[in-house]
Order: sequence, then C-alpha cells, then structure tokens
Amino acid sequence: MVEVQQRAWGVSYAPSPPEEFCGRQEERERLSAVLSRAGEHGQAVMISGPPGIGKSSLLNRLAYEVQERPGGLQSPVLRGEVFDLPGMIFSAFRELLKDLQRSAASARFGDTLDAEGMKEAIRYADDVFEKYAATVEPVGLLSRTGEEIIGIFARSPGVGYDRVHQAFEELLGELGRLMVGTGRVAAVLLDDVHLASSLDRRLLRDVMHDLPPGILLAFTCRTEDGGGSGYATMREELRGSGIPEVPLSGMQRHEIREMGEKRFDLSIDDAAAGLLEETSGDPFSLMACFNALRHRGLAPSRATIADVLAGAEDPAGLAFATLPESGRAWAENLCVLNPPLPVQVMACMLDLQGADVTLMTDRMQESGIFRRLPGGEYAFAHPLLQEHCRHGLSADARVALNARAADCFERSMHRLSGRLHVLLSLACHFFHAREHGKAADLSLELGVRFYHREDYDTALVLTERAIVSAERLGDDALLAAARQQRDLIRQKVSGPARAVQ
Ligand SMILES: Nc1ncnc2c1ncn2[C@@H]1O[C@H](COP(=O)(O)OP(=O)(O)OP(=O)(O)O)[C@@H](O)[C@H]1O
Ligand SMILES: [Mg+2]
Repeated sequence: MVEVQQRAWGVSYAPSPPEEFCGRQEERERLSAVLSRAGEHGQAVMISGPPGIGKSSLLNRLAYEVQERPGGLQSPVLRGEVFDLPGMIFSAFRELLKDLQRSAASARFGDTLDAEGMKEAIRYADDVFEKYAATVEPVGLLSRTGEEIIGIFARSPGVGYDRVHQAFEELLGELGRLMVGTGRVAAVLLDDVHLASSLDRRLLRDVMHDLPPGILLAFTCRTEDGGGSGYATMREELRGSGIPEVPLSGMQRHEIREMGEKRFDLSIDDAAAGLLEETSGDPFSLMACFNALRHRGLAPSRATIADVLAGAEDPAGLAFATLPESGRAWAENLCVLNPPLPVQVMACMLDLQGADVTLMTDRMQESGIFRRLPGGEYAFAHPLLQEHCRHGLSADARVALNARAADCFERSMHRLSGRLHVLLSLACHFFHAREHGKAADLSLELGVRFYHREDYDTALVLTERAIVSAERLGDDALLAAARQQRDLIRQKVSGPARAVQ
C-alpha cells in the first residue's frame, strides 16, 4: 500500500526549472554568443563537467533562452536524452523526432512546421530510423517468455547507416530553412551523450560538423563517467572543429547564496557560503545540504553546515537521509531497473495494483527523487541517486531484485511499447539474476544482431555476458559459439572496419 505522506519531500533533485536557475553568468553569455550566430551558420556546443555540476540544468536554461528571444516563443525546442542502457539504437534521436512531430502538430508554430516538405522529412526519417533498428528490434513481443521471443525479429530491412544519416540531415536542413525564413532558431538538445552507444555517437558526430543555418545543437557530456570513454571520445571529435566546449565547475559564493535564497528560502551568510564553496560547491551537493538543513529545521550557519556535512557519507547519502521511509524503499526496490522506467514495471516491482498505481505515480511526481519523462515513463530525478542505491545493495538483494525485474518485464511486455528497451533490460536482468540459461540465449542472439548493425561495442558487451553465463552453465557448445562470436566482433573492433566507423 502507498501510505499517504504529509511531510514535504524537499526540493526536487531533477534538473533545475529555468525560472529557478541560478548564477552561471559567464557560461550563459558564452551560450548566448553561440546562439546569436546560429541564424547565419548552424552551431553546435558541448556543455561538460563532472556528475551533478549542473549540465542538464544549463541545457534547460538554454532552451528557455532560445524561446525568450524576440519571436522565440515560436521557436521549436527538441529534446533527447541518452540513458544508461547501451544499445538503444538512435533512441535519443527518435525522441527528437517525436518532439518535432508534436511541435508540427501544435498550433503554436502556425503553419510553418506544417509545411508539406517538413512533414515529408519527418515521415521519412521516422521510417528510416524504424527500419534501421528493426534488425535488432523484434516485430512484436506479444506475451512470450525470454526464451520464446527469440526468432520473431524482422528480416534484414536493407536500410544502411548512410540512409539514416541522410534522412536526419535532410530533416535538419528542412527545419533550418523554415527557421531562417522567419528569423528564428530551432534548438536541438541532447543530454548525456557520454552514455551514447557507438551508432548514436557516429550520427551525432556526422551531423554536428555540418549543421544548416537556423539550427543550434547543444549537448551535455559528463567528464567522469565511471571508467567509460564517452567524454574522451567527444573531446577528440571536437578537436580542431571550432565547436566550443562550455565546461562547468563548482559554484562560487554569490551563486551559492543565490541558490539558497531562490530555491530554498534560506539566507546564507558569506562565511557559510565560503565553507560550501570550498567543500561542496557542486549544485547536487548544495541541493542535498540545503534540503537537509530545511528538513532538520536548522538555520544555515557555518557551524550547522559543517555539522550536516560531517555527518554525511556522501551527497547522495545525505539526500537519502532526509527522505521519508517510503521514498527510500521505492528507490531501493527500483534502482536495478534501467531508465526509462515503465509504469507497469514499477508497479509490479512495488507490488501495487489498481488505484494504488495512480497514487504511486502522483507521489513520485512530488517525491523529488523521481521525475516523469515526456513519454510517460519515469527516471530517478538524478542519476547519482540511482547509483548510490545500486551501490548500497547486498549481493543477495541485487540478485533477488534483478530476478523480480526480469519477471516483471516478462509479465508486462505485451503492454510495453519500447521493444528494444524490453529486450535489453531482460538480457541485463537475467544476467544479474544469475538465470544463466535465459541470459546466455538472449545475450548471444542480441549480440549477433548488434554485430550486424555495426554496433560492435554493444555486441561485445552482450556476447561477453553470454560467455560468462555459458561458463556458469557448463554448456560447452554454447560457450564455443559465444567465444567464436566474440572473436568475430573483436576482429571488427580492432580491424580496418573500425577506421571507417
Ligand atoms: N544553476 C543552477 N541553479 C539552480 N539549481 C541547479 C543549478 N545547477 C544545478 N542545479 C541543481 O543541482 C542538481 C544537479 O544538477 P544537474 O542535474 O543539472 O547536474 P548534471 O551535471 O546534469 O548531473 P549529471 O552529470 O549526473 O547528469 C539538480 O538537482 C539541479 O536542480
Ligand atoms: Mg544531467
């Protein structure tokens, strides 16, 4: 049962709404300069920085500024977000397309986006994206179990990467033409590109170097991504291209004071702001500290702040310490899921039915630790919260929650629309639940499909999992097949094919 919580949950850990955005004057000016050039030449810009530093919030603020310009209210803003589930082929780009479809259907843009050329470009790109992913996405999942779904994939659709690239370029070209004709700029925003799989990175790279006038492409990239090479790769791409990088670092005293005032109604004196600047200047830590002060009813002095910080293991730990019990329990039960989290699967994980599911989604909105995504799914308000929960699980709890997640996906898959997300989630949960038979079969099958789609990184991750599972099963034939597949992929990764990628 969802218990009714009277207590306020605190200020949300989701990216800051643009009206509450604080400071970052210099970075905003740099972005404004890029924006002012976009009408004449298409522009790209990368916002970078460590976890929780405020990249997504700045991206939100940029969207707002695009629309604050003269005539800007009529400027389309398209958003896509990359989530931490390798292999979601072009899913952030497909989100951009959905946004464009919504914009085209909205009366706000008059008939400009309604133009026949635009509609045609959207239809074509949508079709090409769909066909490209069809090799990996099954045609329909119906109500089958993990073993049975193999074998219902589409046949080779004959759409290669070049057609995807061309369709997306044409779409941007058409959008740019419409913008330039009316003195506007369309903003294309991509959050968390450090998580992008190789195909998505390739498309991003190919479009960012050749943007048509009227288009601003802004994307964020974490500089520390848990050993991944996302940022290093992006940096390499940007080198010599003239594409600017706007790096974010900790907040300064005056920004910290502004944040306390604007978002928490706390008036922070200079000594307290100084301590925060030295010890916890990243906005996520500030959010956790201010929420804790408010929750405990403490005045924000240097001494109380030092006390709050001394008692906390880390900023995410501090954030959780001030949450009501029900919020902590939800977070713990849901942390093994890969975002976007479908409502049906969350309800199943929390064992809720009927009216309790509606209550759950309402409470999640207010909770400050989950956020609702445009497609109706959910995500943790901030990835650091999910990472903290995952790290805190015991090995047994991790296995049990993954087994439950796999079961929940199997039960709800006939009602879920994100087919690729279902499959990749299932493969991941079977593996971590140590259901090695199902994990090996599904990972091997998906691995070969990603190989054919030239996403060798994802193919390798899946195939290596299949190897581990086959070893645990003691199935020699399966193990030999998985090793052979791995060798094939490795040849591609290290061979000449990589160079053309
Ligand atoms: N300039 C700002 N003004 C007010 N609040 C902010 C600002 N920047 C960040 N925040 C708040 O700090 C927290 C972290 O910000 P955000 O999610 O934008 O960081 P991030 O760099 O995108 O993190 P990640 O690398 O994990 O994606 C959020 O709760 C957000 O609301
Ligand atoms: Mg972010």
